[in-house]
Amino acid sequence: MKVETPQKKEIAVTEHEKHPKATKQEIIKKFPVKVNLENYEEAYANFDWADAKKELSYFAGGKINAAYNAVDRHMHDGRRNKVALYCIDAKNKLEKYTFQDIYHLSNRMGNALKDLGVKKGDRVFVFLPRVLELYVATIGIAKVGGVVGPLFSAFGPDALRDRLQDSQAKVLITTPELKGKIDGIKDQLPDLEYVVVVGADQSKLGPGELSFDVLMNEASPELKCEQLDPEHPLYLLYTSGTTGKPKGVLHVHNDIIGHHMTSKWVLDLRDDDVYWCTADPGWVTGTVYGIFGPWSNGASVVTYEGRFDAQSWYEVIDRMNVTVWYTAPTALRMLMKAGDEIVYQNSLNSLRHILSVGEPLNPEVVRWGMKVYGLPIHDNWWQTETGMQLIANLPCMPIKPGSMGKPLPGIEASVVDDEGNPVEPGQLGRLVVRPGWPSMLREVWRNEEKFNEYFRIKGWYFSGDNAWIDEEGYFWFVGRADDVINTAGHRVGPFEVESALVEHPAVAEAGVIGKPDKERGEIIKAFVVLANGFSESEELIVQIKEHTKKNLAAHAYPREIEIRDTLPKTRSGKIMRRLLKAWELGLPTGDTSSLEED
Ligand code: PRX
Repeated sequence: MKVETPQKKEIAVTEHEKHPKATKQEIIKKFPVKVNLENYEEAYANFDWADAKKELSYFAGGKINAAYNAVDRHMHDGRRNKVALYCIDAKNKLEKYTFQDIYHLSNRMGNALKDLGVKKGDRVFVFLPRVLELYVATIGIAKVGGVVGPLFSAFGPDALRDRLQDSQAKVLITTPELKGKIDGIKDQLPDLEYVVVVGADQSKLGPGELSFDVLMNEASPELKCEQLDPEHPLYLLYTSGTTGKPKGVLHVHNDIIGHHMTSKWVLDLRDDDVYWCTADPGWVTGTVYGIFGPWSNGASVVTYEGRFDAQSWYEVIDRMNVTVWYTAPTALRMLMKAGDEIVYQNSLNSLRHILSVGEPLNPEVVRWGMKVYGLPIHDNWWQTETGMQLIANLPCMPIKPGSMGKPLPGIEASVVDDEGNPVEPGQLGRLVVRPGWPSMLREVWRNEEKFNEYFRIKGWYFSGDNAWIDEEGYFWFVGRADDVINTAGHRVGPFEVESALVEHPAVAEAGVIGKPDKERGEIIKAFVVLANGFSESEELIVQIKEHTKKNLAAHAYPREIEIRDTLPKTRSGKIMRRLLKAWELGLPTGDTSSLEED
């Protein structure tokens, strides 16, 4: 993107840039035992969310804007020239942007959107790789009260159509490469008025398509952030459930209270941290803890556009002197597989705090991390719907490898039976939370019934996860209570995959399950009945996989396909995934009396 920033760029030099050779011991000396949250028990007993409001900036009359808190307020708190974003592109080129740069760029973005007629509450979707423009767009949309719709860049046309149609998105921001996935479905998106293309070749733009760079250059860098009702929507993120298409989880500007406090407590961010969240902002972790939470705390954020490989990741850490690193179990398992030697070939001395989320973190990975990084890996638990971390291993508490930690101050979490009654320590049950935390979902987009399902029993929020609590109050994850698949930390609904599969002419029926996998937690496995006239072959299976990868999403295709003559179904015709899973795992099949056939 070629946009002149209105003032000369001054890059703040962080402490770690001044001391690139600092050893871990030196760093740790610089950060003595003092952590942001020092006494969990005391905070848990006394904390009130009303107190947290003091850490955020509200406008007169209790109005707020999350983008103002993430960026604009740093124009007046001494962080104006501090680096907000270190962008490393896919070719390893590094660019630095100060809070002031992001302030002016997002102002331009906000003005450009207003010029396009975007009004408060309109949905603007962001379908971009991890580049500067993604961050600028997200903040700019929020500034004018638009609803940010993050889209993961691996999505294919089917996944995009479902989300853009359901949300009635007005504007989509993308790149020329990704736009190809939209071109073929545009006629099915009557509400989509504009596609804004980053790095567009003007001569190649079609009707309704605009150049991001031109819009930005024409827009003023001065903008007054909208002062919004705290309950005004901030972002709409689609996530998968066990049945039906993905649902739009709606969050509001007041969520920033939760983003801010958890980034402070759990990520333990301080002013001289260089922080890297490896999650893509197309997922909730990348939006909340890759943008709003760390920026609200004034931290410098690293983003890396390149793909995963162990050496490249370690290079990012050493090059940027990353101090706080938030990543995921699959990545850590892959790093473990890459071996110890590669760790020792790099320095990694800047690291002081490592965190993981999104899937179960195996105890052996925690122990390995301790050995090679010299630091514990802090697991924590939350969901798209919860909007912020709720259960965590805080820096101030001893870690039990394999446990997700304890509920944060201000969070009442429990494990209950199917009637909502808490079970004894050590007993398996449903992981639930008492509503009232600031970042809880406010709506399932235009689907009250689905929203109400979360709260159906005794006023608890039902997470859909099974867990148990030990005698000391640590929470242990067991699995999903439903059919949702978690593959490499990506949440995938079996229904979406089944729908994509049956679009292939050779597939008559499909049933999809998560199959345990050592590296990815789970892989997607499909059981398929072929249509008349098709017979099983290696080639056909590859074709079906490719079809799903291309149309649905690169991360959501079945890595295994098994052809069957029939699939087990209930009398009403629903495919019994439970039984498919039991077959796969060689488990007892339980009650099969409702089977159409055995
Ligand atoms: O099953 C749990 C798993 O990820 C689900 C939430 O997925 P999503 O909404 O995509 O958000 C992921 C990032 C916050 C949960 O219902 N999950 C999340 N954290 C953990 C986890 N499973 C085990 N251990 C965790 N720490």
